[in-house]
Formats: sequence, C-alpha cells, structure tokens
Amino acid sequence: MTGMPAPKRIYLSPPHMGPGERELLLDAFDSNWIAPLGPHVDAFEREFCETVGVPHAAALSSGTAALHLALLMLGVGPGDEVLVSTFTFAATANAVKYLGAAPVFIDSDRETWNLDPGLLEEELAACDRRGKPPKAVVAVDLYGQCADYERILAVCGRYGVPVVEDAAEALGATYKGEPAGSFGSAAAFSFNGNKIITTSGGGMFVSSDRSLVERARHLATQARDQAPHYQHSEIGYNYRMSNLLAAIGRGQLRVLWERVSRKRDIFNFYRHALGDLPGISFMPIAGYGEPNYWLTCILVDPARFGATREDIRLALEKENIESRPLWKPMHLQPVFKDCRVRGGGVSGEIFDKGLCLPSGSAMTESDLERIAAIVLRTRPGSR
Ligand SMILES: Cc1ncc(COP(=O)(O)O)c(C=O)c1O
Repeated sequence: MTGMPAPKRIYLSPPHMGPGERELLLDAFDSNWIAPLGPHVDAFEREFCETVGVPHAAALSSGTAALHLALLMLGVGPGDEVLVSTFTFAATANAVKYLGAAPVFIDSDRETWNLDPGLLEEELAACDRRGKPPKAVVAVDLYGQCADYERILAVCGRYGVPVVEDAAEALGATYKGEPAGSFGSAAAFSFNGNKIITTSGGGMFVSSDRSLVERARHLATQARDQAPHYQHSEIGYNYRMSNLLAAIGRGQLRVLWERVSRKRDIFNFYRHALGDLPGISFMPIAGYGEPNYWLTCILVDPARFGATREDIRLALEKENIESRPLWKPMHLQPVFKDCRVRGGGVSGEIFDKGLCLPSGSAMTESDLERIAAIVLRTRPGSR
C-alpha cells in the first residue's frame, strides 16, 4: 500500500529562473564563448553597475574570491589582524585566513544584528593602545540589511583603517539612500544559488576606485602580464566568472527589483501572520535604510512562545519544508575557537533563538499560508 504522496518540498531560498535567463544562456552557448571571459562578462559588469548604482565591478567566480582579493589588495598578510563581524557566514572569516592573517570577531548590535559600531570603536582603541592597528575591517550586511556605515566609516577613518563591505547577501538594499556595495574601499557580492539573484555560483568585486577593480581583474585572471606568451610577474588566481554564468546573471539582473519586491511581500506576509504571537519577533529593520529582505528571520523566545526554534524547524521539516537556524557566529565555531572576540553574547543569543523561514521568491500564497499554519500549530494549546 502506498501512502499519500509527500507534499511538495519547499526550500529555504532556491534559485528563481525565467525565460530571459534561458535565452541569454543559450545565446552564450551558441556563440561558443564557453570560457572564463567573453562578451556576456563585460556586459554583466556594465549592467550590474547601472542597475545597482555602483561605479566599477569585476565579475568573479564567487563572493569569497571577491573578499579574498579585496583583503589581498589592502595589503593583508601573515601576522596581520582583521576585525570581522562575528555574525556571518564562514566565508567572511575564511578570506582573512587565506592570507595568513587572524580574524578578530566583533559582536552585533541588537537593533540591527550587524557589526556593533560601539564595540568596533572599543576594539580599535584597544589595538591602538597595543600599538598594533588592524589591517582592515570587514563589515557584513547581514540577511540583506546594511550595517551602520556612517558610524563604522567614521570610527575606522579616525584610526586610518580601511573597510571592506561584505554585501554578499544585500544586493538591492540601501543605506541612507546609497546602494549596498558602495561603502568602504571595496565590496563583495555573491551570486551563490541561494542569493536574491544567482548565477549558480559567482560573485562581484566592486569599488569606487577604478584601479582596484582593474587590479582585481588582473589578479583573478592568473595575473597574466600583457605579452604574446604566458608571462607572470606575481601570483595570480583563477577567479574570473565564465561567460555562460554571466549570461544567466544578466537575465537575473533584469528581474532584481521584482525579486526585492516579492521578498518584501513575503516578509510582510509572515509579519502579519505571526507577528502578534507571544514570543515571536522579527529581524529588526533599521530606520537608516531599506533591506532587500533576502531571508525572513524570526526569533523564538521559548519561555513566551512555549516551543523552541528547533521545535518549529522540525515541525516544518516533517511537512517537507526547509527552514534553517541563523548563522552560527564565528566566535562559536570550532575552527575559530582560538580567535579573539569582543562581546559575543548578542549574536550568541540571536543564534540560539533565530530561524530563517522559507523565503523563495517563487513561493505561492498557498505555500506561505501552509508554512504559517504549521508555525501556529507548533504553539502548545493551539490545536
Ligand atoms: C555573508 C556572506 N559572505 C560571503 C559569502 C560567500 O559568497 P560565495 O558563496 O559566493 O563565495 C556568502 C554566501 O555564500 C555570505 O552569505
């Protein structure tokens, strides 16, 4: 005897492709530009700058590659320290380690979940007293919301420390009217499969300094010198984006604002459906900008809700719906256990209570209603 067919799997934030992407991909394929370079790469960089409002961009194989090159070009090397938001995905801190430097983790501000500018200032002052300034600061725009750049750039400017913006999750967000990716010396975006737009895998290095972007392109192309033969004067990387993937990226870029709008609607749906429940709260939206609402994140206070975030996750999983705890902060990761941290309690608590709800832009209203009903049923006494 066979049971009922399993309900359709709902993923956390799956790719959302359309006919435009298919057409451009086939155009790249038919042109035989099956290479890590080509006309779609050039066009993707140009259109990215126009759409997002950032000055110069180099398309790379991943957001991690963009972070790595940004730190490399700022001169980060063995023995250096780099101050990094602890509440992030591991790639942010890994890029520091690739260069033989040590990440020093800074906790989050409870009002934005992003790098706490007050703690950043304390750590910069402590580094100054020790006579060892950090080589750079990496601020992350978590879950599509910009960090507080006015305060971060002011304090870093006072100590002469450059800032890299990890905007991997924040394409389409703004801070005080300026786009994510336009703050600091350079910024990194990701087009990984779960991001608001995707090329399956890919990234973008962005800077207002044209020479930095040109140098990123050079380093990402094995640092090949201009010569008819293969000649190299420094160590390079194989980090360029392929022409096929850039074609997909161009198609995705054309629907970016639709995606942002749909993600905002999804956030508002959940807030309307679940926002009044005792013990449930949502990622705070800072008054200084507009996120891209990449993922809707909630906090579950078990004392008031009567169930934990893990109870909700398992209840959803039982119905074939994927949700996920928030990023486990870097200072709590076994691989970074020996790194210094300033604070840590805020992101630790948000991790303990936090859950990312399914936020795919192709979800239907009935998908959303199904998810909300399961969350509501998780509450004791609700049946
Ligand atoms: C905050 C953050 N930084 C960096 C990355 C790395 O980007 P990629 O996967 O494109 O290397 C990601 C996502 O994957 C991310 O979420």
